[in-house]
Amino acid sequence: MPATTKLEGTEVMKAIVVTDEAAGLAGMTLAQRPEPAAAINDVVVAVHASGFVPTELEWPSTWVDRAGRDRTPSVAGHELAGVVSSLGYGTTGLSVGQRVFGIADWHRDGTLAEYVAVEARNLAPLPGDVEFTVAASLPISGLTAWQGLFDHGHLRAGQRVLAHGAAGAVGTMVTQLAREFGGYVIGTGRAADRQKALDFGAQEFVDLDSDALTDVGEVDLVFDAIGGDVQQRSARLIRPGGRLVSVVGPVEARPADGVAVDFVVESDRAQLQEIVQRVRDGRLRTNIGTVAHLDEAVAALDPAERRKGKTVVQVRP
Ligand SMILES: NC(=O)c1ccc[n+]([C@@H]2O[C@H](COP(=O)([O-])OP(=O)(O)OC[C@H]3O[C@@H](n4cnc5c(N)ncnc54)[C@H](OP(=O)(O)O)[C@@H]3O)[C@@H](O)[C@H]2O)c1
Repeated sequence: MPATTKLEGTEVMKAIVVTDEAAGLAGMTLAQRPEPAAAINDVVVAVHASGFVPTELEWPSTWVDRAGRDRTPSVAGHELAGVVSSLGYGTTGLSVGQRVFGIADWHRDGTLAEYVAVEARNLAPLPGDVEFTVAASLPISGLTAWQGLFDHGHLRAGQRVLAHGAAGAVGTMVTQLAREFGGYVIGTGRAADRQKALDFGAQEFVDLDSDALTDVGEVDLVFDAIGGDVQQRSARLIRPGGRLVSVVGPVEARPADGVAVDFVVESDRAQLQEIVQRVRDGRLRTNIGTVAHLDEAVAALDPAERRKGKTVVQVRP
């Protein structure tokens, strides 16, 4: 890929784009796209690092805009850490040159690119002592865990939390935050995930392939990052008044005497600041698996190549 050039009077940049929904991850390509312009209340950010959630290629917002119109070729990626390079009309609260991190809008071109335009309210200032690679790993997994546990799960100290996918990007955040706020965490996953889940703070671990989920006993909160049959079996474990929180689509199973919620994470400046402060003072550890440069990212995003944990793409050295 040649260095960024000028094409037909427009600045162009390197970006990873998708055009073919049926092709999935195999359809990702490194391409040249026009640099984005800042709309009202936007900032344009020079991206230093971008987080990637592979399932985003299954989300409708990757393919269509809010009006349902085809928006391909779409730039992939939604998490970012970088430096503000310009402000849109009327934008307040952030300034050019400021380090920021957060979540880019679902329906617009994303963060696997040299520049991205984002509504300023979806970003938080990034303290100077937090590396861009670390910061880019936090927004989706950290905010999903925070909102699932506290906003939707109503976690209180002393409650028992069943955290599915506890060794994953979201699950390790769920486990650490639930422990900090006084929850008792039973993590789940595959046999190979046991040690990692325990290292991140789970007090028990259930291997979903060979342990009996019913042995867990009653729980107050199920945080479901797996879904399907696992969700069905978990709903029966929820105490009266308890909650099932799903981040994998509409809930398919409801507790007999409790609440079931599914949600999509929203960016939240105050919560981003809570999360990054915990990383700075050691209360939260990141779970970064693969780190690749934008030029090599297409190969690194292949499921066969990707290591477990959060995938982060470095855009600038
Ligand atoms: N609603 C939202 O706002 C939101 C936000 C973030 C993420 N999500 C969703 O949440 C899910 C998890 O995301 P993530 O980034 O944490 O992914 P991840 O890092 O891949 O973590 C998922 C974990 O669950 C394990 N797992 C999956 N299926 C399993 C099964 N049937 N039995 C045992 N273990 C299983 C995975 O193991 P393997 O790697 O071995 O499969 C992995 O350890 C994804 O579906 C993602 O789309 C939703």
